Amino acid sequence: MVKSEKPVYVLGTGLSHDGSACLLKDGRIRVAIEKERLTRRKHDGGNDTEAISYCLEAAGITYNDLTLVVQNANFSMLRQGNDWWQGPRALNQTVPVVTISHHLAHAYSAIGTSPFEEAAVMVIDGCGNSFDDCTDLEGALAPENPSPELRHLYFEKDSYYVFKDNKVTTVHKDFSPWGANLKNYPMRPNTTLHSIGGLYLAASMYVFSGFEDPGKLMGLAPYGRPGIYDFEIFELKDGRTFVRYDWMEAFNRPCRNYEQFKQDFQYYADIAYWVQRELERAILYVINARYELAPSKRLAYAGGVALNAVANRLILKNTKFKDIYIQPAAGDNGLAVGCAYYGWMEALKQERVLHSGSMALGRPYRGRRVAKALEAYKESVSFAAPDDYIQQTAALLAAGKTVGWFQDGAEFGPRALGHRSILADPRRVEMRDFINAKIKFREDFRPFAPSVLAEDASVYFDCDYESPYMILIAPVRPEWRQVIPSVTHLDQSARIQTVKASVSPKYYELLRAFKEQAGISVLLNTSFNRRGMPIVETPEQALDFFLNCDLDVLVLDNFIVRKLPQGMPEPANLTEQFVADIRGVLERNVDAARKIGGVYKLNVTGARTLIIDLSTDKPTMLEGAPAPNPSAVINITEKDLQTLRTDPDNEGVKLFYAGKIKVEGGAEHAMRFTQIFKLK
Ligand SMILES: [Fe+2]
Repeated sequence: MVKSEKPVYVLGTGLSHDGSACLLKDGRIRVAIEKERLTRRKHDGGNDTEAISYCLEAAGITYNDLTLVVQNANFSMLRQGNDWWQGPRALNQTVPVVTISHHLAHAYSAIGTSPFEEAAVMVIDGCGNSFDDCTDLEGALAPENPSPELRHLYFEKDSYYVFKDNKVTTVHKDFSPWGANLKNYPMRPNTTLHSIGGLYLAASMYVFSGFEDPGKLMGLAPYGRPGIYDFEIFELKDGRTFVRYDWMEAFNRPCRNYEQFKQDFQYYADIAYWVQRELERAILYVINARYELAPSKRLAYAGGVALNAVANRLILKNTKFKDIYIQPAAGDNGLAVGCAYYGWMEALKQERVLHSGSMALGRPYRGRRVAKALEAYKESVSFAAPDDYIQQTAALLAAGKTVGWFQDGAEFGPRALGHRSILADPRRVEMRDFINAKIKFREDFRPFAPSVLAEDASVYFDCDYESPYMILIAPVRPEWRQVIPSVTHLDQSARIQTVKASVSPKYYELLRAFKEQAGISVLLNTSFNRRGMPIVETPEQALDFFLNCDLDVLVLDNFIVRKLPQGMPEPANLTEQFVADIRGVLERNVDAARKIGGVYKLNVTGARTLIIDLSTDKPTMLEGAPAPNPSAVINITEKDLQTLRTDPDNEGVKLFYAGKIKVEGGAEHAMRFTQIFKLK
């Protein structure tokens, strides 16, 4: 250990999409946060100032208290200076900064938080750093070895390491050339040519008309039919994946909007089924090939592809690895965690400190802080803090109520694990449609996942393994499929979370109390957010959410919160209509929309983030998509958006000068943006 009376703080920071920051104190995670939770823009990345400030404030320290900062960024952006993406960063000269490459950061995110003392480490994602930015090539087998002048055009696609004696050694790295110039098929990966993650994301964008959670494709797959498509997407040879492109021309019906998705549901579901099977084939091939290079009983796994819970069970069942740890924030949101652990273990040469297993890494909100938030909402809600609030919550769930469950610090990563969750009784078949339509405002095919007491998991599910982070599926046992229909997917599987008292004591107690009342220790658990929005971070955000949907009860810390009748506004659906309208307008007015031009990021306060791209041949509106360089960012409430649409010229000026439309970027672009509303 470092001999010091003062604690040693190491800050990790990731500047990819899904940016984040993570602070280690003496080798343990003190706090970590994803940028999207703070800016309320899904997948937000780039400049890390807000995420860093949050971590420092939560720990009660200043920047100068840090011993070391470790960072990672994509696309050589750090060579262009620290201010390149979204403005100046908070770094200063007093603290040393180390930069590591993308897959190495993913690898350390898995190793740092895994329970394994020794393991192989696999990283598979869409696109990492370029060959010439890699800091982990030493000793590695690298079948693709581009000449020096081309190294900036080849990117990491999968990497394999061994972790032993507190040290990570690189075994194998595969690279893929940049593919943006390839013929413009609608389903082509728009980053690297041959990566598994890049192809899966491309298919997801084809099916869902935008940059949404690729996990949705996995959820859609069981609705598809086998045998409709039999092209092999991947050519698998020499232990490597190559995306074939000869089939791509046949796919020329990319989804434009939700209406089209509904209309052609079976077409898109059949594609999802086929792409999912191909993904599984490619993953198993690569992992089996890497195993032979450096066998191990245990596998630690990260990178965006590791979020595929269906494929993850196959890895456990169909490879020689006996145990698997999947980093819960396997996507680029986990890079900051990996950077921090690299700093502690490799840069400072310290022993890894075993992680607690809890992913509730956000700052906790409790007691007076929660009471203060409730006080501000007392016109709209009633609340009480009974001693037996957990038992009362279980009774409400057993009686068919939907519950927003907000406890302590938020989970880091895409899954809600009992800290920012919406919960319901899984025996009620109607819950799935109700929560999708009335609480989360999302598509009706989206499945829900169950939480279960770890010791009871094998009663309901065919599993002999733990799944604490909801990224492994298990078949629901036949006798339980009809009993818990709202968490049983079409293929009779469930993306389970096994809950232990040592990791999540309150949530464990709630499941126990529910078992006492309902006879089963399973709850429907979905994340506390609506479609296209990040998970709620603060009590105020939870209260706003609660008051704008049909959620029955909110449990904030130990307070049970109910809506007062006069405080119940209509569920917000103006934006839903707006999205449908504008997509129709863009389709009907392609030339006029192109003439307006520009890329606009529209943040509808408390609702969603929309990207309106009028810069291409096909003007589009996407949700949650990254837009690193929008012409303008426009912040507006739903109500003011409606007003703006009634008379874009006059109301636009009035709202602008009243400070109700907040514009970042060129005001001129913002004025042009309002012209969209004149199109019919
Ligand atoms: Fe990645």
